[in-house]
Amino acid sequence: MTETRREQFQALRGMRDILPPESARRRELTKQFFTQCELAGYHEVVPPILEDLGVFLRVGEATDVVTKEMYDFVDKDQSRIALRPEMTAGVVRAFVQHRPVLPWKVWYAGTNFRHERPQKGRYRMFDQLGVEALGVDDADLDVEIIALASRFFASLGLRQVTLLINSLGEHEDREQYTEAVRLYLLAHQYELSEASQVTLELNPLRVLDSKRREDQQIIADAPLVADYLSEDSADHYARVLAGLDSLGVSYTEDPRLVRGLDYYRRTTFEFAAEALDSAQNAIGGGGRYDGLAEAMGGPATDGVGFALGVDRILLACDAEGVFATDPTRLDVFVIDTVSGDAARDITHQLRSAGISADRRFGGGSMKAQMKSADKSGARFAVIIGEDELAANEVTLRPMLGQESDGEQRRVATADLLSELSRYSSQTVTDQIDFQPADSASADPTNSGTLT
Ligand code: HAM
Repeated sequence: MTETRREQFQALRGMRDILPPESARRRELTKQFFTQCELAGYHEVVPPILEDLGVFLRVGEATDVVTKEMYDFVDKDQSRIALRPEMTAGVVRAFVQHRPVLPWKVWYAGTNFRHERPQKGRYRMFDQLGVEALGVDDADLDVEIIALASRFFASLGLRQVTLLINSLGEHEDREQYTEAVRLYLLAHQYELSEASQVTLELNPLRVLDSKRREDQQIIADAPLVADYLSEDSADHYARVLAGLDSLGVSYTEDPRLVRGLDYYRRTTFEFAAEALDSAQNAIGGGGRYDGLAEAMGGPATDGVGFALGVDRILLACDAEGVFATDPTRLDVFVIDTVSGDAARDITHQLRSAGISADRRFGGGSMKAQMKSADKSGARFAVIIGEDELAANEVTLRPMLGQESDGEQRRVATADLLSELSRYSSQTVTDQIDFQPADSASADPTNSGTLT
């Protein structure tokens, strides 16, 4: 018989499998984020991953995100749809569709897709955490969301995060400023890099974002947006900065900060992780997008928000040596050297009582099973051999922490749950240091009996 070689597939370029324990770390990151959000009165919104292409065109038809990077296609019913490249557009579409009570303060955690050139910290599929607040024209709201992000970074232990901030002014200010920048850059067109000459035609402000060496001097001498701000815009910006000062949130004003999406008005900001390479050190960004709801066919509504890149935040955590991966949390590893029946039944009963338990499948010698128990990081081994089975008992062997020095002991199978519940559920999750709990703090779900 000839053997057919099967093709071995790989994840698509720019897309990654997130495996344990990294997956648990990401989940913990999201938990820390939504804890901060809920503390500030933001609640979760879950928009679809696919939207009508038109929703994303409102993000800016002259941006790379829309023109070059979008995964758009014709659906089976011939409609043009796209995988979301970011979440603000979908959230604002949902706002316009459902018209919730104002102010509408929401947070989200979701996957986005951009057909970019993959590199470290830049992927084609990436997760964002973010907030959006609609229906309030108050600079204090800008301060509120920036402070929220800053508390989140602090909760992870990140210290080297710089907040860059700017104001792009109202729609008219921005238009006038864009025109001034366009005329200025046109005068220097041939000194610009080739890529920036193309950008100049499509979206002059984006040239200010160029990192190319040959563009830097021209960018440094470009007109400043501060000179084009209306009185209202300047007042709004001043109150945002005063609010940040009052809360002790430090920032660096960056008059060249224009951001990659077209919907921004007035406040714009970015968080840069100083511990990362400057090409990919933006771990988040946001700003006001007053006018986006109108562009989606809704009523004129102010909006402000930000999105943070999960992958880059974790890279920043690695670079700063903070927010380490949690060790696996397993309470009990069941060893059964007889038939496996007890392992099957006891793991089930422990899990039903809220105690995490695992076992080795396919049996094996006592030595092999002990090795698996060691590897699992479990706090206790519950051992069932011929003797234990005959006596309707198990051997309870502490594996970690202070108790690991203690003696193993025989326990009636029926008393195993109450015996384990002597260790508080708090310390069950704290692998290193566990103490017998006083009976009042023992987890009541653990106090049943095993049969
Ligand atoms: P953005 O700056 O395009 O803004 O993305 C926010 C963050 O997502 C970036 O700072 C970065 O950390 C992460 N990110 C973006 N692209 C990638 C990628 N290809 N790979 C890995 N991470 C990436 C927005 O998306 C706006 N919706 C933010 C916003 C919300 N503005 C107002 N509300």
